[in-house]
Amino acid sequence: MFPDLDQLRAEALQELERVQTREALEAWRIRFLGRKAPLMQAFGRLGSLPAETRREMGRRLNALREELTQAYETKAQALEQAELERELAARWDVTLPGRPVSPGGLHPTTLTIRKIVQVFAEMGFQVFRSREVELDEYNFQLLNIPPHHPARDMQDTFYVDTGTEDDVPPVVLRTHTSPGQIHAMRYFSSLNPDDPPPIRVVLPGMCFRYEQITARSEIQFTQVEGLVVGRHVRFSDLKGTLSDWARRMFGPNVRTRFRASHFPFTEPSAEMDVECFLCGGKGCPVCKYTGWLEILGCGMVHPEVLRNGGYDPERYTGFAFGMGPERITMLLYRIQDIRYFWANDLRFLEQFA
Ligand code: PHE
Repeated sequence: MFPDLDQLRAEALQELERVQTREALEAWRIRFLGRKAPLMQAFGRLGSLPAETRREMGRRLNALREELTQAYETKAQALEQAELERELAARWDVTLPGRPVSPGGLHPTTLTIRKIVQVFAEMGFQVFRSREVELDEYNFQLLNIPPHHPARDMQDTFYVDTGTEDDVPPVVLRTHTSPGQIHAMRYFSSLNPDDPPPIRVVLPGMCFRYEQITARSEIQFTQVEGLVVGRHVRFSDLKGTLSDWARRMFGPNVRTRFRASHFPFTEPSAEMDVECFLCGGKGCPVCKYTGWLEILGCGMVHPEVLRNGGYDPERYTGFAFGMGPERITMLLYRIQDIRYFWANDLRFLEQFA
């Protein structure tokens, strides 16, 4: 006389699972919760039960009605949501042209560094990565720049606060990529200390100087260092290598010239100029009517520096050079102010994308 409530429940929930439309849901509601539904009819027959079982049956009927009503509400909401989503999807007009994404681009300095390194790679150089945070010892002492050497005045240094203990060696943000020379030599000489292998590396990276920021100088900039060490490496090798690099970089007929200079870690030292690639050497505002552009510092690695790197200066010689990619970029693109490089102004950056 009373329906089997467990079976009824299982059937109702199973049927509800299959419901996909509002109409089907309404049909389900009428079938399981409508006036003529077996569950609802059962309420009317409660009075015929003896008092002992009436209470229990009433409680069970109520609980089931409650559960099915709840399931119905949940299903109704889900259907509504699905319908809304279908409607929204139908609103997409797939024939409209897509909105263009704006792809990123490489920073002009990065482009220049890649070009410099690529040309050196074609000439047989490896890239050697060195750290940006350095011991004072590597940035200065091991490069033949002792504590009171006047060269330190040229390089205003960011010192890193390592706490108050006296026994912590001073740490700096490197002021040039030259400390990488020591790391490279120590690495390669460690491979075979008695007979260290020859070296031919370039070391690109970020450098920092505590200076007044102007149109010509930034506190953060990049350098590309180069280092060649071996038997019988001579100044003519330096001149030939760097002149060849300049022709591959700026044009096959570009001339170079070397002027005597001074760096504590090279002896002798020089600076290399390339013929102005904007006016071809005739004279223009960029080369200040000299016909020449100053590109890099270089020299034969100082014997003391070779020794500090684990190379016996009696048996090995080498040359090194350092150049500023920002400066080269400014010359190539006639950029008047170095501050553009860090200004993050899209109008500037997009010109190189
Ligand atoms: N480190 C020098 C500078 O920052 C450049 C340089 C590198 C000169 C290697 C000679 C040899 O100006």
